[in-house]
Amino acid sequence: MRVLKLILGVLPVVCLTLGGTPIGGVAAAELVKYSVVENEKIPESLTGKPGDPVNGRKVAINRKLGNCLACHKMPVPEQQFHGEIGPDLRGVAKRYSVAELRLRIVNPKIANAETFMPAFYRNTELTRVMKKWQGKTILNAQQVEDVVAYLTTLKDE
Ligand code: HEC
Repeated sequence: MRVLKLILGVLPVVCLTLGGTPIGGVAAAELVKYSVVENEKIPESLTGKPGDPVNGRKVAINRKLGNCLACHKMPVPEQQFHGEIGPDLRGVAKRYSVAELRLRIVNPKIANAETFMPAFYRNTELTRVMKKWQGKTILNAQQVEDVVAYLTTLKDE
């Protein structure tokens, strides 16, 4: 059951092929331009506004949006099933700067081409995308900033 839940949780994010409701998607034309530094950092906010960590936590644990729990352990006691494909996110704010965290959410493949983690703010070069998802990102720019703001609160290991 646990495995099934995890698989069902991961599928919409990883494959984007099996349906589900596109909530966070934005069309290509609306994509914010951003600069990457040293293949590791996106120093500037996508929105120019501070992210909201409370909303970021909601976006991160929402199974149709961030779905981070499918692959990561997080300090989210109200949710039972936490994945183990990625590292535990507790204390991640001590290990990464804001600019590095932003890149990890926007497109972690810039830092590590082999990573299994999805790019949450990319709408090209995705494979096997259903028609209704084509040209869409998983999260919009404000949701990315909110998730980044939430991650910066994860200081305790
Ligand atoms: C399909 C699995 C998957 C999902 C979903 C996923 N990640 Fe990851 N994530 C990984 C893996 C695997 C890594 C390990 C590093 C790598 O592969 O580059 C990682 C690495 C990270 C890192 C760097 C952590 C470290 O200690 O090195 C952060 C931060 C992160 N993920 C945040 C998130 C957030 C926030 C979400 C949800 C918005 C998310 N991830 C969703 C798989 C996933």
